[in-house]
Amino acid sequence: MNVWDPPMDKELEILEKRFSEELSAITTKEAIESLRIKYFGRRGIVSTLLEKIGQLPKESRPIVGKKLNELKSKLQESLHKKEISLSAADSFSQSAFPSPSLADSTLPGRPFLSGTLHPISIALKKIIEIFQRIGFTIECGPEIESEYNNFDALNIPLGHPARNEQDTFYIKENLSLEDNSPGRLLLRPQTSPVQIRVMKKNQLPIRMIAPGRCYRRDEIDATHSIVFWQVEGLVVDKGISLADLKGTLEYFFRELLGNQLQFRFRPHYFPFTEPSFEVDGAIATQEGEAPRWLELCGCGMVHPKVFLNMGIDPEVYSGFAFGFGIERYLMVVHQVPDLRLFSENDFRFLKNLSPSF
Ligand code: DAH
Repeated sequence: MNVWDPPMDKELEILEKRFSEELSAITTKEAIESLRIKYFGRRGIVSTLLEKIGQLPKESRPIVGKKLNELKSKLQESLHKKEISLSAADSFSQSAFPSPSLADSTLPGRPFLSGTLHPISIALKKIIEIFQRIGFTIECGPEIESEYNNFDALNIPLGHPARNEQDTFYIKENLSLEDNSPGRLLLRPQTSPVQIRVMKKNQLPIRMIAPGRCYRRDEIDATHSIVFWQVEGLVVDKGISLADLKGTLEYFFRELLGNQLQFRFRPHYFPFTEPSFEVDGAIATQEGEAPRWLELCGCGMVHPKVFLNMGIDPEVYSGFAFGFGIERYLMVVHQVPDLRLFSENDFRFLKNLSPSF
């Protein structure tokens, strides 16, 4: 029998119906593939019909050809759609939910924890920003230093208690530093040797801060740690006076801690500055109440001997230096009772001091 015997439209209708029924019964990707081969493969139902068009009378070939091709596209499209819906269902079942019906959309979402900077990093960022605003450069030096850079060059004589092995970590290996500075190696107990490194570069004037980690052989307790952060400062130029030191530090601490801060410069002793001071700050208190003074930083005018050690003429140049601890300032500002909290990485503590930004 000629497949194109009328009623041909009826034939195509049956073909389409059969295809649709078979397609809707399909639940797997493999079955989709079999159906594709069955209908559209080289020897498939549709392909065979198309081949047979050649046997039709000339006039009906284009009409039948057009109809069959249209039907072929239509069926292929529905096959493709089915394939997509099967893959979507597939990937859904492989996701967090075992099956769509088990997904409970009323459950609260999973909290998304975003990281923040450590409180010390936040403080450092602020400190650096303030000093950069008034033209300071940011320098750094190594945590392993020479006895010379850390003590001798800073006018800290042999026999000074800080040089004691009970206070400073010395490194036993006989190594030398890239700058060939003499003496044993040690873990720097202060950032002050960065002053020496910067002065050695012989590029005056100097206006710098140097933040960094320091180490001391302390018994660890709530207020002592063997590792902590300091910020060193040094300004060297012609005509630098105590007024510059006071003005700079007052500006800096007011920017950092608030405009109402009151200051007190107490005479002190540091081997590398003369005169030397300790700066205390107090937030304005209620009238009649005594201010609560908090120690903020050590400072002074650079000692002429330090300049001479660095080949800088103290008759021509003068300067000031300062140094303060970051954890100590954070403890005061945020009323942190224990220094160890800064290095223990307790999330509850960090979260309080480092709001997300
Ligand atoms: N290096 C001192 C310390 O660790 C702090 C210090 C005091 C630094 C006075 C200075 C300074 O530059 O001028 O205790």
